[in-house]
Amino acid sequence: MENKTVYLNGQYLPLNEAKVSVLDRGFLFGDGVYEVIPSYSGHLFHFQEHLQRLENSLAGISLANPHTREQWLDILTPLLDANFDQYIYLQITRGAASKRDHAFPENIPPTVFAMCSAIVPIAGLSNGVKAISMDDTRWKFCNVKAITLLGNILHRQEAIDQGCAEALLIKDGYVIEGAASNVFAVIDGVLCTPPKGHDILPGITRDVILDLARKNNIPCSEDKIPFAALQKANEIWVTSSTREIIPIVELDAMPISDGKPGPVWQAMNQLFQAHKQALL
Ligand code: PDD
Repeated sequence: MENKTVYLNGQYLPLNEAKVSVLDRGFLFGDGVYEVIPSYSGHLFHFQEHLQRLENSLAGISLANPHTREQWLDILTPLLDANFDQYIYLQITRGAASKRDHAFPENIPPTVFAMCSAIVPIAGLSNGVKAISMDDTRWKFCNVKAITLLGNILHRQEAIDQGCAEALLIKDGYVIEGAASNVFAVIDGVLCTPPKGHDILPGITRDVILDLARKNNIPCSEDKIPFAALQKANEIWVTSSTREIIPIVELDAMPISDGKPGPVWQAMNQLFQAHKQALL
């Protein structure tokens, strides 16, 4: 195991020395939230937006933010290496109470953990990847970036078991998002993505893409996408902090358009890479 330095409750430790209690509510209940923040050449990408989402997630589970944004930056910066593209994983749980009880404990400090990992380029990105569609079986607060990810995990594993990279989740006849990503589709020349709400995680990559589309006169909409429209889309992409923008070229074993990444993806990927460089 790589023995990198991680942050745990005020200390920087080798990974194999970082330990939490078995009574930690993250372990017992999945009672916590997390963030994933990319870092390009040592610069945290859209840090303020990620911290805003962290604050929203904490508020969503009634857990106080243990740190100011300045403190978070001070905590995370020593974990970064300017020589690599990486991502920060940070997690806050409701701490370790003296006994297991569903109700919130009183006067217990949260557990705060952060580590940095390499961003591994997706193999065969320029050829696109395959996806399956599945009924969304997750809970009703998908806007909260909760560590309780069993629903997402089961969806994602089903996709992998079927030789696919992602599961697109369907609810009441509409596509919602991926198991670990947001979804975009190019339909009749318009770049479409489902609207924000309790159904989806408000992806930072999603917001960056919409902003880039608007600034570059690419028609776009934040509207519900019927599954039938998705199946006939010219292009489908999934987006996330760790995988950026990935073209889906096959959905449920049926090719999307000619089964190759489309021109809008090519254009947006270039805009996205240029945007990353501009922020360095
Ligand atoms: N997940 N929707 C879900 C369910 C996600 O898990 C993610 C990202 C996204 C995209 O959000 P963003 O663009 O802010 O990364 C959407 C992260 C990467 C993870 O769980 O590791």
